[in-house]
This record gives sequence, structure tokens and C-alpha cells, in this order.
Amino acid sequence: MNPKKFGVIGHPIAHSLSKPMHEAVFKELNLPHTYDAIDVKPEDLKDFIKSNPYDGLNVTIPHKVEVMKHLDEIKNEAKQIQAVNTIKYIRHHDTPNTDTPKAIGHNTDATGFQNSLKEENINLENKNALVIGAGGVSRAILISLKNNNANITLTNRTKQKAINLNQQLNINAKIIDYEQLITNNQLPETDIIVNTTSIGMHPNTEHSPIPKKLLKPNHIIFDAVYNPLKTKLIKDAEAIGCKTISGVNMLVHQGAESLRIWLGIEPPIQAMKDEVLKHLIN
Ligand code: ATR
Repeated sequence: MNPKKFGVIGHPIAHSLSKPMHEAVFKELNLPHTYDAIDVKPEDLKDFIKSNPYDGLNVTIPHKVEVMKHLDEIKNEAKQIQAVNTIKYIRHHDTPNTDTPKAIGHNTDATGFQNSLKEENINLENKNALVIGAGGVSRAILISLKNNNANITLTNRTKQKAINLNQQLNINAKIIDYEQLITNNQLPETDIIVNTTSIGMHPNTEHSPIPKKLLKPNHIIFDAVYNPLKTKLIKDAEAIGCKTISGVNMLVHQGAESLRIWLGIEPPIQAMKDEVLKHLIN
């Protein structure tokens, strides 16, 4: 088998978990492929994408939106999310003299979210979802919720950003005031609470986006933060008896979906998870 070259581009990129995670897959499946972490400055993005030295790329902060301008095709879900996190280069080996590859943009974050719930036998159909945060991570999760017919309530410290995102993504969410939400004595009718903010992320591990007193045992808690593995939100929720899902699962499942797109393989989810956990603070 010919070795293929993959990688992740971002700026900065030093702390990316994608490299060890994908290398673990190639090792586990005995594949000759490689995966690099590449620091690409915003001003170098276009040239890098057009020089297409790779078979596939993951794309992370700050390039997920900007990169769309430099691709030959963008898949529907990435269009809906308005961001690309995976590029597949298609080469036409049968016409070697005209081997200008096509760069195709995908977004695997929504599938990553969906599969991390599916793994826990959670179906989003007609569920009431409360999403906290209206930044980059929020977009894919909101589209995943919409595409799975969940009812979405969206809240964000800066309310206007939630209003704008609701319009941009056309998700028909109900917008509620964050300050009011966390000072009230109860939440609106909610099945699943999703934190997409950075609250609770290392080193601010003593913070949670939602007071413990608002959590009920029937809530499912998804925290997109995975560093630390057990955020304050996850710990509070576990203490109450809620089902909890860590952002590690979304990280692993978005990576797995990239591998399906690039190579058509079924990735070893557990080996990927084990590798990522080695690099995280507990
Ligand atoms: P990302 O791309 O990781 O989502 P981001 O775009 O900077 O990062 O978004 C961070 C999210 O966390 C935003 O929703 C932000 O709220 P604002 O829109 O009001 O900035 C939210 N956030 C970060 N720190 C917060 C805090 N201390 N309290 C409430 N929300 C916070």
C-alpha cells in the first residue's frame, strides 16, 4: 500500500491532540500513512491549500471559515455550518499529466457530536436541547441538533451573538437571556444541556456554565470542554446522577469521520479514545 500524507493545520498548533490520535489509528491498523501538525499563518493559508502536498487535512482555529474560499467544492453540511474542518484532496492518477487535485471541504464536527450521543444510545429526535454559547464550537452542534429534529433553546453571555447565530444558521432556536437563566431557580423544560463555551477549561477548572442547583437527574449533560476530562459541570452532573458525555467523545468521533472520508476505513474508536486520554489532565 502507498503511504498517504495527512495533517492538521492551525495557528498555533503545538497542543493539537489530532496528531497522536491519528498516528494511533495508523499504528493500530498497521497502515503506512503519516499525520503532521502544521503551523500555517493566516497570510500563508491560500498558498498552502493550493500547493496541496497532502492527501487530506484537518483544519482548526483560526482557519475553519477562511479556508472555504480556497476550496474547489464544499459539502452540504459544511455549507450549513459555514465552516470546514476536513479537506480531502482528490487526485486523478489515471491522467498523470493533468494531476491538479481537487480540494473538497467537509465538516465532521456535527457527525462527531451526533455519534458521541449515539454511542450512549441518545436519540435527539424531538428532544429539548439547551445550548450554552454561540462561538465556533456551537455552530456544528446547533446544525447537528437541527438536522436531528431537536427543539433548540440557545443562550449566550452576549445575547446578540446568539440572535445573530440563530439567523445565520437558520435553526429556529428560542433565544433566552444567559444572566436570567443562571439566576433563576429552574431551567426551561430540557432533556439535554450542551456547553459549547470555554467555561471550566483548564486552568479555570473551578467554573461551570450552569449552577449545580439547576441540574436535575433526568438531564443529559454534554460538555464540549475536554481539558480537564472531568470539568466542574461534569462533576456536578455526576453527583446529581445525570448521564454525562465528555467533549473527548466528540473529538474522537469527528476524527473518526475524517478518516472515513479520507480512507473509507472504519476507525478503531477505543484506540483513539485511549490515546487522547493519555494526553489529558484528569
Ligand atoms: P470557540 O470557538 O471555542 O467556541 P469562541 O468563539 O471564543 O470560542 O466562543 C467562546 C464562547 O464561550 C462564547 O459563546 C463566549 O461568550 P461571548 O459570546 O459572550 O463571548 C463564551 N464564554 C467564554 N467565557 C465565558 C464566561 N466567562 N462566561 C460566559 N460565557 C463565556
